[in-house]
Amino acid sequence: MTTREPAYSPETVLVEAARPPRVPGASVNPPVELSSTFIGTTGMGEAPFGYGRLDTPAWTPFEEALAELEHAPVPGLVFGSGLAAIAAVLSLVPAGGTLIIPRHAYQGSLQSADELAARCGFTVLSVDIADTEAVIAALDTATATDPTTATDPAAASAMLWIESPTNPMLEVADVPALIAAARQRGVLTACDNTFATPLLQTPLDLGADIVVHSVTKYLAGHSDVVLGAVLVGDPGLRETLLAERAMRGAIAGPFEVWLALRGMRTLSVRLDRAQANAQTIAERLSERVGVLEVRYPGLPTDPGHARAAAQMSGFGAIVAFTVDSAQTATAIAEAVRLWTPATSLGGVESLIERRRRHASEPETVPEGLLRLSVGIEHVDDLWADLDAAITAATGTKVASPGTGAESSSHRDAQANA
Ligand SMILES: Cc1ncc(COP(=O)(O)O)c(C=O)c1O
Repeated sequence: MTTREPAYSPETVLVEAARPPRVPGASVNPPVELSSTFIGTTGMGEAPFGYGRLDTPAWTPFEEALAELEHAPVPGLVFGSGLAAIAAVLSLVPAGGTLIIPRHAYQGSLQSADELAARCGFTVLSVDIADTEAVIAALDTATATDPTTATDPAAASAMLWIESPTNPMLEVADVPALIAAARQRGVLTACDNTFATPLLQTPLDLGADIVVHSVTKYLAGHSDVVLGAVLVGDPGLRETLLAERAMRGAIAGPFEVWLALRGMRTLSVRLDRAQANAQTIAERLSERVGVLEVRYPGLPTDPGHARAAAQMSGFGAIVAFTVDSAQTATAIAEAVRLWTPATSLGGVESLIERRRRHASEPETVPEGLLRLSVGIEHVDDLWADLDAAITAATGTKVASPGTGAESSSHRDAQANA
């Protein structure tokens, strides 16, 4: 990997990283490398690549660019999906060890953790990640019988999984405090940075050992690939995870990785627009009759606002709001015409989903919660469509749609109705 002098800002790194060398006639983009095997035999000297499941130049530009963005000293590791990346990281928790995980982490992470824990024999402690004291108490429990002070991160007996903001409840963890507390106790920290992206927070700078991404979401950004990635600060840990990827074969296709790098080039402009839209939609929803609660860290009234403002450089583009019942939420998702009723998030198009439609979603997620992945369309079109869908589903109408002028007493009246 090249270290730049002077260092560029992330917006520039996104555009400039991992371009081919500047020689006359060269392509401005890395090629799509389609080869499952690479030339080499004893006597020819060491070849950088051998077989495509172990490593391939098709992954290198993306892995180097993402590492530069996340401030990782070694290249990232791309995986066939976010969940494959997560499973590889969770495999670091040893038998008899402990995994501390947010009760409202992405439900696939929760399922994967439970399944691995049962098979491998480690304990899972579920915590409210926004409750710093509770997480520290769990760290103490996890290290009480086995206080690991190992300097080798792969030898830790406990792992703290951080997801902030959480999916879909948008809870915000005190990321610097939790990482510091985990480090003091020799606990490995892994942070799912999918919602924030490296543009809003870089956990490795705070001392996290591992960052994971569902590249499927904001990084690739166009809902056309499924991919994951892991970034680490320690070269030895990278070797361990590289071996895990090669052994399980959870690898990515060359063209998907090429598409992800192509999509990532525009991340900063996509995120700027999506965040601005999300802020407006959240503000309008919080004044909308028929809406019981809105979670978005960018709202000054949100419980996570102060923390997010202190530790992130933006509030992201996921909004959650709650209506009175599963039926109403479903009716809203069915009534929209511009928003797409679909799972996933982070693409240019706006998506809406009632999360409890998945049986695996934790029961503490309200039945009437709708998760919005706010895209980059014109915000007035998005609001008009959502507002009309809420009216159709609830029979409630605001006096001046889009102005956010309704008083909160209307909302209370509706909640009491
Ligand atoms: C926060 C988060 N992490 C991980 C994943 C899993 O990623 P993938 O679907 O790419 O396997 C998701 C998917 O929704 C997610 O929202």
